[in-house]
Order: sequence, then C-alpha cells, then structure tokens
Amino acid sequence: TLVSSTPLLAKARAEGYCIGAFNVHTLEMLQAVVEAAEETRSPLIIQSTVGTVKHLGADYIAAAATIAANRSSVPIALHLDHCSDFGIIMQCIRAGYTSVMIDASHEPFDRNVAETRKVVEAASAVGVNVEAELGRVGGVEDDIIVDERDALLADPDECARFVEMTGVHTLAPAIGTAHGIYKGEPNIDFDRIGRIASKVSIPLVLHGGSGIPEAQVRKAVSLGMSKMNVATELRIVFSDAIKRVFADNPEENDPRKYMVPAKLALRAAAIEKMRLCGSIGKA
Ligand code: 13P
Ligand code: ZN
Ligand code: NA
Repeated sequence: TLVSSTPLLAKARAEGYCIGAFNVHTLEMLQAVVEAAEETRSPLIIQSTVGTVKHLGADYIAAAATIAANRSSVPIALHLDHCSDFGIIMQCIRAGYTSVMIDASHEPFDRNVAETRKVVEAASAVGVNVEAELGRVGGVEDDIIVDERDALLADPDECARFVEMTGVHTLAPAIGTAHGIYKGEPNIDFDRIGRIASKVSIPLVLHGGSGIPEAQVRKAVSLGMSKMNVATELRIVFSDAIKRVFADNPEENDPRKYMVPAKLALRAAAIEKMRLCGSIGKA
C-alpha cells in the first residue's frame, strides 16, 4: 500500500539524505519512476499537479500508484503538488493520496497560516502528510506563474513561527530555486537554508529541482533539504524520447513503440536524480 511520506522524510532528515519527488502525467511516467526506485532501492514520492489531477482524475492516479506500491518492495508515497484548493485536496485524500501540499504562499502570512492549519487538521486525522510553502518559489509550474520580481525568499524566524502555528509536517521555504529550467545557474541562498534548518526540525523541501547542478543539490541536502521536487526535466526527457522516435519514423502509430523508449529515458533520468539526492539504497 501507499505509505505516508511523513516517516520516509523523517528518516531522510535524520540521516542526511533527500527523497526525489517526481511529477508524473501518464501511466508510463509513473511506472518509469517506480522502476527507478526499485532498481536503486530508493524510497519514492510520486507527485501530481492539480492540472494532472484534472487531466487524469485523482482516482485513476491513486489507483495506479496503489498498484505500483502493492507490487513494490520499496516504500512509495503519493503526493499532491502545489494546491491552493481545499476541495481538490480533500478529493485527493479521499482517493488515496498519502501526502498533500497546501500552497497558500501567495497569501499574506496569517492567511497562509490559517489555510495550512485547516488542511493539517483534516489530513492529520487520516495520517496524511501536509507540506506548505513560505516565501514564493519563482518560475512556472502548471498554472502557477511567479514572476522573478514576485519571488520572495522565506524568513527563518517566520518559518519557525509558521511551523509552530500550523503543525505542518513538511516545509518548502523559498530559498532561491525556481520552477523550470534556469537561465544560467540558480542563485541559491545556502546560508538561509542552514538558518531555516537550525530553527525548524521538520523535513524541508527543495522545489525547482530541474537544472540544479549536482554540487548545489548535494550542498542543499547536506544543509537539511529532505525532499527534492523534479518536474520539468522529466517531462523534457520523456517528450524528447518520443520526438526522436517520430523523427526517425514519422509513420509510427503503435504507442508502445514510442512509450517504451520514453519510459526508459525517464527511468534513467530519475535514477540520476536519486543519485544526487543520496537516496540510493535507503529503502
Ligand atoms: P522543476 O520543474 O524545476 O523541476 O520544479 C518542480 C517542482 O518544484 C514541483 O513542485
Ligand atoms: Zn514546486
Ligand atoms: Na528548476
């Protein structure tokens, strides 16, 4: 069965590694990250955005993830990424998600606290992990678009107060990463990660995982990041493999002929991220 991400992330934080949380949009993408986790004995968090919940249905996603977890010998959690809609959060929990993100980071602090608390109350009763965001992660994710000028780094004291006031299980503080592929290198405030981690004992989440160079991922993990979200790079790898099939054979019309190479490419990309995270062999 799917497990809550709470114990997985607590272990990661305690032992100083990170768990890859991968956004999937199709059955084959889900299978690819599961195979990567199996092959490397990594704990795994499968995520879907709100857009993908609307596209596939929370019940379909949860059913596929549950089958994967039932067959798998590594622990797998299913997480709802960046959601500001309480109704969709409840719908996903009812469908079987074991982790949810309430993203009220666009709201003033007090409202973010109130909305997060409400989700923590509902989710904790059924053992579901809750992640919240403080500050604002820049870039584009699904239909959330945050301009560079609106991206705001999280304040360490506010992080501590936020965790205390909400009882949230996992915190995503904005520390300079962004959704999407960076122009150049990300400008990560490592000192801030360290200060937040010293004030907050719950696992921290690194958003915007696509395009962060290996050394920077490792440093962020060593400072206390316990979950790394990766979306854009995986979509690109998956789609590029399909494009290559059609470039070579524009007449191809058997989905298996283009999905299998896409799956293999995504599996390899996920394994590479698991290596950066230090989660290999931790399951
Ligand atoms: P990337 O698209 O940069 O990998 O960010 C993923 C993310 O943070 C999902 O929440
Ligand atoms: Zn994110
Ligand atoms: Na990114």
